Amino acid sequence: MVTLKKFDNGFAYIEIQNLNAVAKIALQGAHIFEYKRSNGEDILWLSDKSDFEEGKAIRGGVPICWPRFGSFDSALPPHGFARTMLFTFLGAKEIDEGRTVVSFKLQDNPQSREIWEYKFELEVNFIIGDTLEIELKTTNKDDKEFMITQALHSYFNVSEINNVKILGLEDKPYLDTLTNKEELQKGEIFFDKEVDRVYQDVKNEIVLADNLKELHLNAVGSSSAIVWNPWIDKCARMSAMDKEAYREFVCIESANAQEDFRIVCAGESHALNLTIE
Ligand code: BG6
Repeated sequence: MVTLKKFDNGFAYIEIQNLNAVAKIALQGAHIFEYKRSNGEDILWLSDKSDFEEGKAIRGGVPICWPRFGSFDSALPPHGFARTMLFTFLGAKEIDEGRTVVSFKLQDNPQSREIWEYKFELEVNFIIGDTLEIELKTTNKDDKEFMITQALHSYFNVSEINNVKILGLEDKPYLDTLTNKEELQKGEIFFDKEVDRVYQDVKNEIVLADNLKELHLNAVGSSSAIVWNPWIDKCARMSAMDKEAYREFVCIESANAQEDFRIVCAGESHALNLTIE
């Protein structure tokens, strides 16, 4: 079942229910902010303090950072503008009783052209089932090429940050954005301080291990990933976040970031696909 719903302030989202899962996706940003499996697993973290207000990014779920990841480009807002723009809901289709495809689209508009001159189409397709699949497809509708960096900025629920390990990034080079130094990952990643890193050469599965549970992330069209947890001090400074919230989530973001930027030629497309299982 697919239903258009609204919060009291008019903020609209699509709710999808099938045999395997329930999901909620806001029209603003084509932003999935809930994905619960019917076995009770609540995969995506969402801040209790998250705003559902037009023009403000939702804190949690999977924000779409586009056409920039980060804030390296002064003309554009941090993580780009897609996450605060209203997408068009293209429709939904049930593949079977347990899997539903849902699609959204954003096109260039006067507001986007003011800060980013290009004509584009950004399609976001979800498959909601016992796995969650997200496709981010950029099409260049202009007559000149453009460059994008982007990320599916997934916030994952964890039992407690001290229990978490990330596997699959061993021996990968990364930029530590806290020190601005290039490093090499030694062993698995665990958390006992702020972590904010952009990994490169990521062409394999990443595993989020939390006690005995595991989530497996596979991305296509991407060879970079960001691992982020704000830890105590940054968490206390962040908008729409409780001061203890850093204990409850970790971000693993499948991306085209830094040297993994993509040039999209006129008339061509680039797709970034992520499967979470
Ligand atoms: C991560 C960055 O991707 O996003 C962090 O690596 C940043 O540095 C975080 O703090 C959250 O960003 P924002 O803009 O949603 O507060």
